[in-house]
Amino acid sequence: MSRIRHLQPPYCYYAYAVSRDGLADYMHYGYWKEDTRSIVEAQENLADLMKSYIPAETRTILDSGCGLGRTTSDLSEKGFDVTGISPDQSLIDEARRRFPAIEKKFVCVKFEDYSPSRPFDLVFFQESSQYIDTKVLFEQLAKLVRHEGYVLICDEVRYSQKPRLFNRRSDMLAFAASNGFSMLRNEVITDQVLETRRFFTRLLRENVDDIKSLFGGTDRDVEKEVFELADAWDRETAFFDSHDYGYEVFLLKKSAPARHTAGSVLLGASYLLKRKSRTFLNRIRDAL
Ligand SMILES: C[S@@+](CC[C@H](N)C(=O)[O-])C[C@H]1O[C@@H](n2cnc3c(N)ncnc32)[C@H](O)[C@@H]1O
Repeated sequence: MSRIRHLQPPYCYYAYAVSRDGLADYMHYGYWKEDTRSIVEAQENLADLMKSYIPAETRTILDSGCGLGRTTSDLSEKGFDVTGISPDQSLIDEARRRFPAIEKKFVCVKFEDYSPSRPFDLVFFQESSQYIDTKVLFEQLAKLVRHEGYVLICDEVRYSQKPRLFNRRSDMLAFAASNGFSMLRNEVITDQVLETRRFFTRLLRENVDDIKSLFGGTDRDVEKEVFELADAWDRETAFFDSHDYGYEVFLLKKSAPARHTAGSVLLGASYLLKRKSRTFLNRIRDAL
């Protein structure tokens, strides 16, 4: 457990929650089956599901948002040429510490700013596409994926206009299409992963004293951070129950160059306009 002390919030709390049954290397959801007994097992199930999606002809992979580095390491061991990126230096340091054999394969950079010398066969996101603006996500993917290469996304998405957390599924598909990607496979696994959220908030609240003793001793108010995180997760879980949010796997193939048709230009313009008016309204609200 002491190995996760230096991670920054909220990642330190994710790592704490999944490390209770043994030091886990993933910070993603678990896929719960009838006989699943622990979060570590549930996470392995989801990791296995993701690996089963990788097309046979794949050789080079970008693990975008590589967290603690486990997937980057697993895929390297399987013979893929994998690069893991994350903008969080504490996570990159930890990934290098855990997997020294591939330490040079971990790069501290934002996906949006990454500019490798050659495109990849496949770009992979496990709960890390949600941090990137939808339009930027697919424009950058058009540069980072080779012709006839793939994008594999396993993430939380939203179906409605509001609340605004996560990328909206319909925007993702529209920007994917206008940047030359078509859908090969799609699976909705909300019901199989949702138990992870209940497990996580229950565990944080029940172990707040233990968490304080592990992460305390700084000027951070750990107890407040833990309860705020658990409350925020509960509020979000209600939106999964009401089907405003969901959890899906997408395998996309780049089969055409980006199409800057009148439709896609209009889509981009209206998307930017909506974002700008939102920022403007937020400023007014803050000023009141
Ligand atoms: C919830 S963690 C998931 C980590 C890992 N994929 C896993 O499954 O264990 C989210 C990851 O996304 C990364 N991330 C956040 N914003 C990013 C960005 N703009 N570009 C690349 N990675 C980003 C974080 O640093 C972190 O590694």
